[in-house]
Amino acid sequence: MKVAVSILKSKYSEEETIKKINETNAEYLHLDVMDGTFVNEVSFEYEHLGEVKKPLQVHLMVSNPFSYIGKYALKNTESIIIHTELTEDIDSLLDIIKSYGLKCGLALNPETQIEKITSYIDKLDYVLILTVNPGRGGQKLIKDVLYKLDELNRIRVDKNLQFEIIVDGGVNNENIDLMNNADIVVSGSYVCMNDNFQEQINHLR
Ligand code: DX5
Ligand code: ZN
Repeated sequence: MKVAVSILKSKYSEEETIKKINETNAEYLHLDVMDGTFVNEVSFEYEHLGEVKKPLQVHLMVSNPFSYIGKYALKNTESIIIHTELTEDIDSLLDIIKSYGLKCGLALNPETQIEKITSYIDKLDYVLILTVNPGRGGQKLIKDVLYKLDELNRIRVDKNLQFEIIVDGGVNNENIDLMNNADIVVSGSYVCMNDNFQEQINHLR
C-alpha cells in the first residue's frame, strides 16, 4: 500500500511541511486545491511547490478545473484528480489532463455512488474515494463509505482494468486496517500534526 501525504492540515508552515515530507519514504505528496465554490474552503496559494521532491498528486476540489489543470501541471506533477460531481464536461477534462502527459483520476464524494463514474472508468488511472466531506483536513473517517472499495475492486477485475484506488480523508493507524484493498491512502493530519512524519507513516504501513 502506497502513502500520499496531504499538506492541508499541518502544525508546520507549508515550506517546513514540504521539507519534512521530502525526507520520508511517502510515495506522493497529495495537494488539495479548493476554490471556495465547489467546497466552501479556499486552499492557500501554495508558494513552495518548487521544493517538492515527491511525485505530486493534485486533488482539484474546484468547479472549473479548466483553469487549474495548466497551473498545476508542474514538472513533478504525476496526476490530477477531478470530481465526479462537476457539471463540466468530465470526458474532455480527463483528455486535457492526459494531454499534459499526466495520469488522471475521478474523486467521489461520500454521498456519490460509483455508477456515476462507470462511463469514464476505462480511461481512469485513479479512482479516489473521499472518506470525509471535502474541504478540510483533520475530520473523522466516514466508515460506511468503504463499501466502495470492494465494489471498485470487483469492477476492476470484471473489466480487467488497471486503475488504482485511493482512499482520502481521516485515515489513521486505527482505521487503516479497514482499507486493505486500497492501493494508495492519503493521510494529512495524522502525519503532519506530529513531529516525526516517518514514524506516523510507518504506523500506517
Ligand atoms: C479533504 C482532502 C483530504 C484531507 C486529508 O477535502 O481532500 O486530502 O486533506 O487530510 P486528513 O488526513 O487530515 O483527513
Ligand atoms: Zn484530498
